[in-house]
Amino acid sequence: MSTKLEMKDYATVVRERHSVRHYDAAATISREELKEMLAEASLAPSSSNTQMWRFLVIDDPEAKQTLLPIANNQKQVVEAAATIAVLGDLNGYRELGRINDMAVKAGYMPEDFAKQFTENAVKLYAALPPERLRNIVQTDGGLVSMQLMLSAKARGYDTVPMGGFNPEKLIEAFSIPDHLVPIMLIAVGKAATPGRLTVRLPIDDITSWNDMKKG
Ligand SMILES: Cc1cc2nc3c(=O)[nH]c(=O)nc-3n(C[C@H](O)[C@H](O)[C@H](O)COP(=O)(O)O)c2cc1C
Repeated sequence: MSTKLEMKDYATVVRERHSVRHYDAAATISREELKEMLAEASLAPSSSNTQMWRFLVIDDPEAKQTLLPIANNQKQVVEAAATIAVLGDLNGYRELGRINDMAVKAGYMPEDFAKQFTENAVKLYAALPPERLRNIVQTDGGLVSMQLMLSAKARGYDTVPMGGFNPEKLIEAFSIPDHLVPIMLIAVGKAATPGRLTVRLPIDDITSWNDMKKG
């Protein structure tokens, strides 16, 4: 891991992250550092710790050109060092056995508990209506995506999340198997132009306490 001392603090990261749409096309990010960011992102919480997110990293110039029309010709996908397709794995819960075995080996979970937990959870996920499972992988995919963007910002990079792409064409062009659902694309790179500033609704307008009727 690169030294944490070089990273921006949370207060700065969260205030200075803005969606950046113009990147320095000459600036690259090593695969090692991209993997560090993905590893930090994957510290995000997930349903039963199933981690049903998968990443397709598009960092090759030819692959970026393939992605361009699929991403509605948003040129950040060719200018940024990489674009990461965050995918939700509808079969991902099948990894729970391995995940819980790792937790046992790390001393975080008693063996009996792990066995029972895995058995119950796998049964539960396997029986879920497809729409419910899809919602779960999309929710968890949003969490990992946000964490990836914050990790990038902490390291001095910028990002833009993108829902503006054709999922069917993405699946076809990049050989994405049926059980993986595209959630969003995230371009990451060195900003050439800062992101536009945006505003947020006042917290008092969007927050209720204890009961929505009482305001
Ligand atoms: C799910 C999602 C999809 C988005 N899709 C796009 C997109 O396709 N292209 C784009 O330029 N920005 C996209 N954005 C970025 C938003 O426009 C941006 O987050 C919003 O305007 C707030 O600005 P900020 O990110 O700079 O705070 C998307 C954001 C989210 C969360």
